[in-house]
Amino acid sequence: MEDAVVRPCEASDVDVIAAREPEGRDYARTTFDRQQAGRCLYLVAWLDDEPVGSGELEWVPVPELKNLQVIPACRGRGIGAALNRAAEEAARGHGRIAIGVGSDNPGAKRLYLRLGYRPTGRTETYTYSYVDDSGTRQSATETAEYLEKELAEDPLS
Ligand SMILES: CC(C)(COP(=O)(O)OP(=O)(O)OC[C@H]1O[C@@H](n2cnc3c(N)ncnc32)[C@H](O)[C@@H]1OP(=O)(O)O)[C@@H](O)C(=O)NCCC(=O)NCCS
Repeated sequence: MEDAVVRPCEASDVDVIAAREPEGRDYARTTFDRQQAGRCLYLVAWLDDEPVGSGELEWVPVPELKNLQVIPACRGRGIGAALNRAAEEAARGHGRIAIGVGSDNPGAKRLYLRLGYRPTGRTETYTYSYVDDSGTRQSATETAEYLEKELAEDPLS
């Protein structure tokens, strides 16, 4: 099977991604607009011209990878790790990258530990709202644990 290609979202991608979202989510448009305003890098993974995963690298002092997700049918074949690698390349000049992982998400935490992230001891509990796959707005409260990874300078640069 082909490898996924990861690249920053472009204007012409937004309608393609949005067409696969439940009504009212509006995640692709909002995140693309935030990227264009310089607040994040919106990374999208493509497999045979289909968007199969994404993540946002927030431009905060320690860049933070947020909302990493891969569609269920394509999990477990390295696409999450590829999105992570692309985020690390983009964050390299900052020396570090952070990620918050829900306390109820040990699978994702295991992936990040394997990729070299380490616990910082910082946790945060927050409430957020989202539109679920059936198009219903939901609210959830989650405790996230923050992990960080040191990024060495690229020896070739
Ligand atoms: C976490 C996630 C992005 C990983 O993407 P992926 O493409 O499956 O990741 P990879 O194939 O590169 O790596 C697989 C690893 O992901 C982790 N994982 C977490 N949930 C998984 C799932 N449902 N299926 C497969 N792997 C999963 C496992 O640790 C697995 O490693 P293992 O071989 O040690 O079990 C993806 O499972 C996902 O979208 N989950 C739902 C949303 C989510 O939890 N996002 C993380 C927010 S911090």
